[in-house]
Amino acid sequence: MDVVGFPHQVGGHFGLLTCAGHVCKPLNHREFAFYSQMDPRLQPFTVKCCGRIKVTLSMCAEDGTLNMCADVPECHKQASTLVIDGQRMTFRIKKCGKVEAEKATNAWAAQCQSKVVEKLLKGYDKWFILLEDIVSNFKKPCVVDLKMGQRQYGDECSPQKKLSQAQKCRQSTSAEMGVRMVGMQLYDRNTQQYSFVNKYEGRRMDKTCFYEVIYKYFSDAGKSRQKVALQKLYELRDALSKAEGFRFFSSSLLIAYDGADDNEPIVLRMIDFAHSTYNGFLNDNEYTGTDDGYLLGIDSLITILTNIVSYPNMGPKLLESPSKRSLKRPHTRIDDEEIEKLLASEENVLIELEETSEESLECSNVSLIEEF
Ligand SMILES: Nc1ncnc2c1ncn2[C@@H]1O[C@H](COP(=O)(O)OP(=O)(O)O)[C@@H](O)[C@H]1O
Ligand SMILES: [Mg+2]
Repeated sequence: MDVVGFPHQVGGHFGLLTCAGHVCKPLNHREFAFYSQMDPRLQPFTVKCCGRIKVTLSMCAEDGTLNMCADVPECHKQASTLVIDGQRMTFRIKKCGKVEAEKATNAWAAQCQSKVVEKLLKGYDKWFILLEDIVSNFKKPCVVDLKMGQRQYGDECSPQKKLSQAQKCRQSTSAEMGVRMVGMQLYDRNTQQYSFVNKYEGRRMDKTCFYEVIYKYFSDAGKSRQKVALQKLYELRDALSKAEGFRFFSSSLLIAYDGADDNEPIVLRMIDFAHSTYNGFLNDNEYTGTDDGYLLGIDSLITILTNIVSYPNMGPKLLESPSKRSLKRPHTRIDDEEIEKLLASEENVLIELEETSEESLECSNVSLIEEF
């Protein structure tokens, strides 16, 4: 079966591909183990994992078009979102050797996925986890990826990664609200255009800015979806407040609805479990109590959604006195060229980190990682 680019990827460092109602995420053994041993109490809040696949790639010598395929089970419906405005997102190798995404509207997806295809071309990272694609039935998916919790590193991470992740939390809404935006795409029916937020923009948001952007996302979703989302957040809160010993470090809540069809429901799912753990999982450290950082994030979202539902005419204002409002940092836009530069520098730092032994790295490198 053909594997192509996933046009609706709003966050993540590594590119996701898509095939037959699934997203194909580069295999991480921890994450695959977590999905394979998913606690039944969490299953209603996560996506189905349908196994692992090996993707093979071939190149058309004439025009450099890259074709990918894999044996994929037919457990989910064929995705309508494989096609955007009649075009599939494909890849081509340019004369300079760089892989380029074609027919991409979402710059983030195009950049991350070109890198993954480049790795495939070099002959490594062929394995992917197959996950149910939660937007496969949507015509114009409106998606937001919210990184939950106040701690974003697992115990298995290097000291440098721990420091850099802690700094990202302190400098973003993660520390105060237990949630930050790592990506969003929103479809505007009037202009028939998407608008995007990437992770760099998400990290720079303060509480007010986060509120304004999430307000826009949910107000476009409409009242009935707002109420359903609120209900689902309460259900998730209830489940996680009983999940003793679980920690969902660096994991996200992915929310999606169809911007072109009001009859399609809003979907909320926990994703991204590469650094999640629970007592008895692999040889991980054990924790007592619940993941309070994640619960704080849910509470922040519940407060915001309750305000939106209860005071629909308030507009995107925080229901606090101006003195309590944090200093406003406007939502700063980052253009496609800058995304490419930021991703490239991130890639270089990651390679450097892998190549350098942990002991020899000094704290100065950490501030380098934080530059973007
Ligand atoms: N099951 C899914 N259905 C639809 N989109 C998904 C799904 N899983 C991930 N995505 C998309 O891919 C992005 C990155 O996924 P994620 O698992 O967070 O990767 P990473 O580990 O690189 O952060 C998400 O922001 C979302 O847009
Ligand atoms: Mg992620």
